[in-house]
Amino acid sequence: MFTSNPFVDLSATIPTAYMQGYIIVMILLVMGGTILDMLHKKSAKYFFANAEKAQKSAKRSVSGGEKVAMATAVLLNEVLTSGEFDNPRRRISHLLTMWGTIIFIVTTAIMIFSPESTSALLPQLWHIGALMLAVGAYWFWFFIRADVAAEGLPAFRLERADLFILSLMATSTFALIWSFTGGGVTVFFALFILSSTVLFGGVYWSKFAHMFFKPAAAFQKRVIMADGGRENLPPDYDLTDPEVQRKFPDVPTYMGKNPPNMGLCIKAERANHY
Ligand code: HEM
Repeated sequence: MFTSNPFVDLSATIPTAYMQGYIIVMILLVMGGTILDMLHKKSAKYFFANAEKAQKSAKRSVSGGEKVAMATAVLLNEVLTSGEFDNPRRRISHLLTMWGTIIFIVTTAIMIFSPESTSALLPQLWHIGALMLAVGAYWFWFFIRADVAAEGLPAFRLERADLFILSLMATSTFALIWSFTGGGVTVFFALFILSSTVLFGGVYWSKFAHMFFKPAAAFQKRVIMADGGRENLPPDYDLTDPEVQRKFPDVPTYMGKNPPNMGLCIKAERANHY
């Protein structure tokens, strides 16, 4: 079952050109939704205005080479391995959701645009992608979501912000049920198409576009640390440094001659929830 391509049987009823057309429409919907989202929230405008403001407090200029190194670090850390998550459960769930989605979408597109392919690997990856997405998304929804895990709210409470995760859950669930029940034009196929249309058509209202914005924000965060601007936040002082003690002569009054390094306040408690 894992090795059979459900789109091959489907092409007996629905011409491949229609399926290809559907994928193109979904790509256009994602592009349109992302642009509308940017215009509505003014996120791009705010992002560049903020970057310009941050540059004014820069202590040094960051070279092109350093920027390439930072972009590579963002790609390896924040993008490919979800390195922004401190909580290991959230990180693993995000990795499953993100990579599951990517594998599922890419294999769907290849199978539909190369219907002559007889590769058994593609359908296997398609099912594995959908399963990874389902596991990551259900885990997140029932056990990790901040309002459920930390605020104790019921798991079934719905808000507009849940549109993204719910449409991901529905798309992977109905895709798998559709394939496991033999494919074809069935009620599960209709539910699969309905949920994927909500996923790709709902970008303007959901958190879908974060996958494009977050890498830019992560890069900008690295730039402000490297150029010393730090958005005007104070540096991480080493209180045992005589230079720092000269600058803040009252520190020993409160904390003794060799003040302990208290670390970042945000790290005072293990990242359990967020
Ligand atoms: C196929 C790609 C991706 C999928 C399916 C995905 C999925 C998700 C989901 C389901 C959530 C929880 C959303 C919620 O609260 O409802 C989330 C949050 C998050 N994602 Fe992604 N993600 C993707 C790509 C990325 C990328 C490329 C980055 C970073 C470079 C990223 C960074 C984050 C961060 C930092 C959060 C937590 C903060 C927040 O809730 O705003 N994601 N993602």
